[in-house]
Amino acid sequence: MTTRRFPDGFEWGTATAAHQVEGGNWNSDWWEFEHRPGSIVAEPSGDACDQWHRYPDDLRLLADLGFSTYRFSVEWARIEPEEGEFSTAALDHYARVCDTARDLGIQPVVTFHHFTTPRWAAVDGGWADSGIVDRFARYCERTARHLGADRIARACTINEPNIVASMGHMMGVFPPGHTDDAEWDAARANFCAAHRAGVDAIKSQADVPVGMTLSMAEYAAVDGGEEYAAAHQARMEDQFLDACRGDDFFGVQTYSRLRLGPQGMVGPEEGVELLPMGYEYWPWALEATLRHAWNRLDGQVPLLVTENGIGTGDDEQRRAYVQKALEGVLSAIDDGIDVRGYTYWSLLDNFEWIFGYRIHFGLVACDRTTFERTPKPTADWLGDIARTNAIDVA
Ligand code: BGC
Repeated sequence: MTTRRFPDGFEWGTATAAHQVEGGNWNSDWWEFEHRPGSIVAEPSGDACDQWHRYPDDLRLLADLGFSTYRFSVEWARIEPEEGEFSTAALDHYARVCDTARDLGIQPVVTFHHFTTPRWAAVDGGWADSGIVDRFARYCERTARHLGADRIARACTINEPNIVASMGHMMGVFPPGHTDDAEWDAARANFCAAHRAGVDAIKSQADVPVGMTLSMAEYAAVDGGEEYAAAHQARMEDQFLDACRGDDFFGVQTYSRLRLGPQGMVGPEEGVELLPMGYEYWPWALEATLRHAWNRLDGQVPLLVTENGIGTGDDEQRRAYVQKALEGVLSAIDDGIDVRGYTYWSLLDNFEWIFGYRIHFGLVACDRTTFERTPKPTADWLGDIARTNAIDVA
């Protein structure tokens, strides 16, 4: 065993998103989607982890475990419940979340859009309509003004716009549930424009680092699938990376790899373990995606791992996965790639979108009836790595 140190100032955190943990987010498009007759969502989000009320406990837990950042999202549907009508009470709530974090020595990494959109915006064209760009910028401006640079350590404009665009508009498994390639194209373009407008809007009110966070995968071409893989990656990743040139940082979010043949996805490789999410256990993907993001951004934009994790009931498997993923981060850093932090998804077992509550990504379990939090062994293990900024490698 040797002990490997991460660069000084490396940021260690965990992440959540409002809809997945707060509970009662009824004014969002997701709530409506969950409650459609015959919805494909396994179960409604309901009270989630009741973090709306329990955030002080969660922040205290994070600090006690040894983490220095917390990435969470503010909920547009609560902050702007009707078009142009802003809720001071909701903005004050998120100001208190930031203040509580800071008092505990935790830096707030604030995501402005994490999958959910207010119902009023969704029914009026949503992300397929270019009108969303100005709406999103106005909401960012108002929220950044209220929270201010003293509260926000980093701002993420949009979480995984590539997933919302493809799942919502091409595959139909996220709201609005459409399967329309032209809409998919429009949504991607609108998300890229909204990111740029969001960066400007946030920076006009709070001089803080701002970036996008993107869902990435290791792209593996099989049986001559190179052309298809490159075309798919262009729409899923490169179009968004190209919209992030000049940003203060870029958030890499990686879980697994994709295998693509000449006709499309070919599914998992025989012999590779499958996770409950239906994709391969592939911790090596993180390093591959850091390299891809770095190269596509010409080595000019610092990277942060803003999500990486595993949905599993086996906490020992979780530890092994994160160990391998972190070894990949070190290998990227050894090659001169500027990686500034690692954020585990997620702090809590929470609402995993169409899968409901049956998939467990958390470092901390959450009882579905009492909301009691119980840290798993990996929480302490990763907290120690965060505290010492070092990891033992074989
Ligand atoms: C999303 C999270 C999600 C996680 C695990 C990411 O795509 O940002 O909201 O829970 O992956 O699937």
